[in-house]
Amino acid sequence: MLTITAASLAGGQGKTTSSFFLAKALARIGYKVLMVDADPQSSLTLYLGHEVEANQPTLLEVLKKQVSIEDGIYESNYQNLWLIPSDDGLETIQDYLSSTAMGELALKKRLQQVVELFDVAIIDSPPQRTQICLTAVVAAQELLIPAEASSKGLHSLVRTLQLVDELRSVDAFEGSILGVLPFRDRWVGRTQAKRSEVSIQDMREVAQGILVVPSILESERYKQAIDTGKTLKELGYPDLELPFQKIVEVLETKWLTNKLNPLTRTAG
Ligand SMILES: Nc1ncnc2c1ncn2[C@@H]1O[C@H](COP(=O)(O)OP(=O)(O)OP(=O)(O)O)[C@@H](O)[C@H]1O
Ligand SMILES: [Mg+2]
Repeated sequence: MLTITAASLAGGQGKTTSSFFLAKALARIGYKVLMVDADPQSSLTLYLGHEVEANQPTLLEVLKKQVSIEDGIYESNYQNLWLIPSDDGLETIQDYLSSTAMGELALKKRLQQVVELFDVAIIDSPPQRTQICLTAVVAAQELLIPAEASSKGLHSLVRTLQLVDELRSVDAFEGSILGVLPFRDRWVGRTQAKRSEVSIQDMREVAQGILVVPSILESERYKQAIDTGKTLKELGYPDLELPFQKIVEVLETKWLTNKLNPLTRTAG
């Protein structure tokens, strides 16, 4: 199982959107995908239409080892896609993680129990640099950094790269950076908005050698796809899937075809 975390240290950078669409793109071509909602805002759980019942275990109980990880995994409405959900109760994990020795390794260790069950795990992380965020980043073999095509997005990218450097310097992060994914890239007709152009150019300079993936364009269609459960292609906008096709291509070249059993890929 390959573990990917979407992380970016500011609100509204496209973490949940990119986790969701990447997971669906991988599931659609036959990979078994486990999504992990590691944000107490629980947007991903909501996007997947999963309702957490009062007595049902979530990521909170999984991280606290009150249940086995398998007991925290639920089928989604989509083929090949499973979820460890969260709700706002996940906020209470902060104290537990900071008081536990090596709390930042908690999620990585739990996921090790299911490496044989899934091809890919995709973790959606919160915007703040909290203990939950650290455990989500440390669990990643590949880190995807979505960043809004704006000065706020550039700042978020810089802060996230700093975090990665810090974690690497103490050997806590052993993964690599999959890419930077510009989010809400604005075009009017064939003309890119100046703000988008400048900030994506700045991102390339900051990213230095890290892949900058084709952008997620500013568009209501992503939300429409989430709300209707349809793909962007089914809605008539196949071009909007380009960022995720590119990421899948990179992953397949780098990992999936080599390190995972291609036979687990069931659909065409
Ligand atoms: N292509 C798009 N163009 C414009 N808005 C979008 C697009 N895709 C998603 N959005 C909206 O942008 C907002 C932020 O996206 P998203 O929730 O993915 O960011 P996030 O980084 O997960 O935010 P948070 O830090 O709060 O978890 C959401 O309200 C979402 O509906
Ligand atoms: Mg989010």
